[in-house]
Amino acid sequence: MVDTFGHSEKMANLFDKLSDTYDEVGVDFFKPIAAKLLEEMPPVQGEHWLDIGCGRGAVLLPAAQLIGPHGVALGIDISAGMIEHARRLALHAGIRNVECEVDDAQSPTTVRGQFDTISSSLVLFFLADPLHALHNWFPLLKPGGRIGATTFGNIDPRWAYVDEVFQPHLPKQMRDVRIPDEDSPFASDVELEKFFAMAGFENTLTIRTSVPVKFADPQHWYDFSWSIAQRMLWQAIPETLRAQVRGEAEARLAEYAAPDGSITFNQEIRITLGTRPAS
Ligand SMILES: C[S@@+](CC[C@H](N)C(=O)[O-])C[C@H]1O[C@@H](n2cnc3c(N)ncnc32)[C@H](O)[C@@H]1O
Repeated sequence: MVDTFGHSEKMANLFDKLSDTYDEVGVDFFKPIAAKLLEEMPPVQGEHWLDIGCGRGAVLLPAAQLIGPHGVALGIDISAGMIEHARRLALHAGIRNVECEVDDAQSPTTVRGQFDTISSSLVLFFLADPLHALHNWFPLLKPGGRIGATTFGNIDPRWAYVDEVFQPHLPKQMRDVRIPDEDSPFASDVELEKFFAMAGFENTLTIRTSVPVKFADPQHWYDFSWSIAQRMLWQAIPETLRAQVRGEAEARLAEYAAPDGSITFNQEIRITLGTRPAS
């Protein structure tokens, strides 16, 4: 039996700790990925939009703007820190048709009514039981409504080579969500689409695309790594060893540095789309 509650609690803890720096260290990552999702699932004026695992609003806020004042966008996230930032950023940008609530994507309890569209960017692989979560999302979508989720595609081998420095220090069960196990639903488009279909969605389709991810220098990579879920890999390494691991990573990063010292990797993204049957 999967301890979904304990797992969600751990995620809330992790993302609360990094919510202040998340998407704030000057690396274009979450917003370009969100933009790719919105390109494939363009918001329609006046619709009701639910963004699950909204974080600071990379998808939620542009979606809210694009559906216009007659639409309503609701974002839920397990991290109170993320929700606080999403609310603050919405207020700051003058976006009024947004609501943000702390809730568990695994089995949302605060969401009322049904939505025209559900989005979820880079969230499913953090859940203890993603298939069960998709089952729980299904009734939140209106018949004929759209769902779209992003997950990671293949990792850039150069980036994987840098991140290998963590491996010898990590507990066996700890993994980087960008590198799924072979038997994971996130290992292939077909398996992921199967999950969507098992939850009741139809017309499933996966699009692969990628975004360039540029670090000004190794320090920038280091700051970024603490501002995302990779933080948990750092936390798993005894403090006395962290400087050594960081040095190893920086030596590997140097192999890919451009003449100006910057390092650019590619992040492949998978966008899985589907619909709820109309009847
Ligand atoms: C990589 S971030 C993506 C956030 C946002 N969608 C974006 O694109 O920037 C993953 C998000 O999932 C949230 N999350 C993880 N587990 C969750 C759960 N069980 N319920 C709700 N949100 C969860 C985290 O708090 C975090 O905000």
